[in-house]
Amino acid sequence: MPLVTMRQLLDEAAKGGYGVGAFNVNNMEQIQAIMEAAKETSSPVIIQASRGARQYAQDRYLYHLMLAAAELYPEIPIAMHQDHGNSFETCKSAIELGFTSVMMDGSLKTDGKTPTDFEENVEVTRRVVDFAHERGVTVEGEIGVLGGIEDGHGAGGTGLEHVTDPDQAVEFAERTGVDALAIAIGTSHGAYKFSKKPDGSVLKMDILIEIHKRLPKTHLVMHGSSSVPKDLQEIVNKYGGHLKETWGVPVEEIQLGIRHGVRKINVDTDNRLAITGAIRKVFAESPEKFDPRDYMKPARDAMHKLVAERMTQFGQAGHAGDYVQKSVASMAEGYRDGSLSTQPLVAGR
Ligand code: G3H
Ligand code: 13P
Ligand code: ZN
Repeated sequence: MPLVTMRQLLDEAAKGGYGVGAFNVNNMEQIQAIMEAAKETSSPVIIQASRGARQYAQDRYLYHLMLAAAELYPEIPIAMHQDHGNSFETCKSAIELGFTSVMMDGSLKTDGKTPTDFEENVEVTRRVVDFAHERGVTVEGEIGVLGGIEDGHGAGGTGLEHVTDPDQAVEFAERTGVDALAIAIGTSHGAYKFSKKPDGSVLKMDILIEIHKRLPKTHLVMHGSSSVPKDLQEIVNKYGGHLKETWGVPVEEIQLGIRHGVRKINVDTDNRLAITGAIRKVFAESPEKFDPRDYMKPARDAMHKLVAERMTQFGQAGHAGDYVQKSVASMAEGYRDGSLSTQPLVAGR
């Protein structure tokens, strides 16, 4: 089966009232871990690569690994998504490579750090939407800016400086025609999101709920959604790591989001922690080992376990076989004939 589009996965998730995890990958083992978790739980999946991942793995390796996944697991709908595209050119190159979905993160300038103004964001996102939809490819946009800067994406700060304004979210969705909308509600990328278990003063679920009320048909996306579980922090630290105490986004808050229009949930850090903990354990307990398979296999298993758990928690488990997978060509037809129009998006219109 060829790769499918994220739009189809999210439309189906909206019908079924569940969320779909979007997991970042950089190498073969991470793709294998996700696909085994998807098979075990019978889940549709979004596999995403950042610009850094495309550089690290090289585009051609990444693309062929994804094709191998589609060939090996024909029963699983798989969307291949560009995470945090920083320019029209990045999104165009992803589409030309064969990605079936792109994020145009026009909330930041091409440096991935400096916030743009609203008009600049609308303009670049609209340009990507026109190019992508003509080819049947899905587009995610972002309005508002995440906090933190630890992994190179974000405007710094606590995450509360650039929380999404619901009025702007409505105007942005209408003027760009994006298929999915990432919003900023106080989360950040990386492990250090919150200094204690987050409450409503730092994790703005009320804003998310308000945006969903105003844009009930728009698929919302939560970035920075790792939960940074205590047990994973402890494993890393027990075997020689130095993580400071920290809190992520509790799974029950994500589940609340899913009840209010969140269809895509981005998770990278939790998998990084699972992999690192497993590798550190082998190194600490069996220092005589030097065959990479001796530590890459436990690392892959740890990520598989975590991803399967998230797939169940987000509700995508059991839904892989619900629908016939559509090609990008048929999605392009849908955008042309208006059946995939994202309008009207606004409540009451
Ligand atoms: O957006 C953040 C993801 O965790 C990807 O991070 O740019 O280090 O690959 P990265
Ligand atoms: P985490 O760092 O919380 O895993 O977020 C990942 C993300 O948002 C990728 O775009
Ligand atoms: Zn992100």
